[in-house]
Amino acid sequence: MVSEFWDARYAGNDYHFGTEPAAFVARWAHLVAPGARVLTIAEGEGRNAVHLAARGAHVTAMDGSPVAVAKAHRLAVERDVEVDFRVADIGAWEWQDAAFDVALGVFFQFAQPPLRAAIFAGLAQTLVPGGLLLLHGYAPRQIGYGTGGPPVAENLWTLEMLHAAFPGFEVLHEADYDAEIEEGRGHAGRSALIDFVARKPV
Ligand SMILES: C[S@@+](CC[C@H](N)C(=O)[O-])C[C@H]1O[C@@H](n2cnc3c(N)ncnc32)[C@H](O)[C@@H]1O
Repeated sequence: MVSEFWDARYAGNDYHFGTEPAAFVARWAHLVAPGARVLTIAEGEGRNAVHLAARGAHVTAMDGSPVAVAKAHRLAVERDVEVDFRVADIGAWEWQDAAFDVALGVFFQFAQPPLRAAIFAGLAQTLVPGGLLLLHGYAPRQIGYGTGGPPVAENLWTLEMLHAAFPGFEVLHEADYDAEIEEGRGHAGRSALIDFVARKPV
């Protein structure tokens, strides 16, 4: 069952990854126009979805954990924003063609290579031509740091992998770097990060 592990992790009243957006999302949110249709996958407890909705985006946010989605709802109510939250297994997600102006994926390192390939293809499919892709995750050296993410090397990302997955996309920003992050209990300390900001070809 997809959600058991994550439901347990999200069981407390606190927000496992905090209630503020990932630094990556805060940094690039200015590229998301008010009114933009945004899909955010594996959204967790809603920190990134709520941030973008508060800036005027129309956000659809999916996650496999009903516990996370209930807490995400709570955060949206507290912040007085509306988000279309869905509980769904990403492996069964029906990617709509050219339905979103922005697609966001933050720390979905649970996805092993075959599922990851399907997700990457789905993200490309669901973006409109010219749509914005925002990806943020862990690089392989994160395994030595032990500050977040699964200790499964094949699930981690490289920039080369992302270039190969999104051929023809115009890369606006890419980075493979170390940074201190403080995102609740879930992500804390020196982290090996990958950022990828790109536009689908028109
Ligand atoms: C590391 S958390 C990241 C959450 C969120 N993106 C954030 O940065 O706060 C990974 C998320 O993936 C979700 N997840 C794991 N497997 C999933 C699946 N098969 N389908 C949908 N979501 C899944 C978990 O419930 C969890 O919320």
